[in-house]
Amino acid sequence: MTRWLLLCAGAALLGASTSDDEVTYREHIAPIIARRCLPCHNVGEAGAFPLTNYTEIRRRASLIRWVVMAGSMPPTKVESDVHPMTAGYLSDEEKVLFQEWVRTGMKERVNAPRPAPPAPMAWRMETPDARLKPREKVDVAAEGTPYRRLFVLDPELTEPKQLAAFDVRPESPFAVRQAWVAVVRKGDDDFAETQIFRREGLDSKALVGAWAPGYPHWQSETGITLQPGDRLAVAVLYQPTGRAEPAGFELGVRYASADTKQVSWVRLGRAEGTLAPGDGVQTLHDEIVLDRDRRLRGFIPECREFARQVRVLAVEPSGKRQTLLRINAWDVNWIGAYQWPESIPLAKGMRVRVEIDYDNSGHSAGGRELLPIDPVKFGPGMKDELFWVHLQFD
Ligand code: HEC
Repeated sequence: MTRWLLLCAGAALLGASTSDDEVTYREHIAPIIARRCLPCHNVGEAGAFPLTNYTEIRRRASLIRWVVMAGSMPPTKVESDVHPMTAGYLSDEEKVLFQEWVRTGMKERVNAPRPAPPAPMAWRMETPDARLKPREKVDVAAEGTPYRRLFVLDPELTEPKQLAAFDVRPESPFAVRQAWVAVVRKGDDDFAETQIFRREGLDSKALVGAWAPGYPHWQSETGITLQPGDRLAVAVLYQPTGRAEPAGFELGVRYASADTKQVSWVRLGRAEGTLAPGDGVQTLHDEIVLDRDRRLRGFIPECREFARQVRVLAVEPSGKRQTLLRINAWDVNWIGAYQWPESIPLAKGMRVRVEIDYDNSGHSAGGRELLPIDPVKFGPGMKDELFWVHLQFD
């Protein structure tokens, strides 16, 4: 006990006197955490606990070091040659800094300015014009695998409005992993989940966009016109946490003045086929040649357990390729909301190409033990694979 106290006192003393080349919390670690972790590990966010100050981070330093070195946090493995999309990976330098910080006693450096505490989680968007809530009070299942549940919300419009942005605030942030939003048009009285969120893939015509923790809210430069009587369908992906948590949420929406310009979704991929069992990676691809200058804002990939990597590429007529986004280590339980902060201008004649790597080799991957070794079908069945990528053009 005495020895432990002495060690602590020693560490505190060291914390007060750091030299310039030392790795310290205030100078090196706080900015990394703010950029890479706070989108989810802020108070009231999806992460398991807040990481908002020295004490909270120091207390969990060895666990944090473990997840950082193993690459399991942040859970979103996205990279771009063009435009970063979200927090993303830690760079090798950042990992080294973290490693070094823990090794040298997690110094705070008290003579550098204390980082401002992050603002607690609020709407990611400007104050919404309307906030919609489901009427039904339900709980997230306590046990089991992640599952989706559908809610239909009525914005009660009396005149047409242009839906330009939305954001989601879950009551139990820790239990909500993702949400898709789509429009249910007036008069579609036998609307059923299967129409929009079909098992063989989302219906691009109805699609508004996706939301996920750690990503900016959905927005568009053009928007989608809602008519009086139209409603919004929200399919929420829940992650059971071991307790029954309230499943409620608020959908915040922002309207722009009604306009004839519309978001357009283009669906690439295919409905059928099989993934032969075998060694190694099999890549499926599809592409669209742009018949005019267009602005690509984001995309929604639909694939499942056998997918490993998703890529969206811009290919010039010369054949030069740029990776607009690469999702490494695809994980169905961590599907992001893939939108760039600004839309990417692409010239007429360029191709947008989507590629998904699948692995049906029966090897375990990403901690999941795959069942050997049958052909995998693409199709509408629960066990079937999917190959769809919906591109959002502004
Ligand atoms: C996209 C959201 C998101 C981001 C970004 C994120 N986390 Fe997490 N983190 C979570 C969630 C959600 C959990 C709860 C674990 C789970 O359900 O998988 C978690 C769990 C953890 C855990 C506990 C792991 C365990 O095994 O108990 C640690 C440690 C952690 N995060 C550290 C970090 C660090 C450090 C960063 C930044 C480098 C980070 N996280 C970035 C969402 C995120």
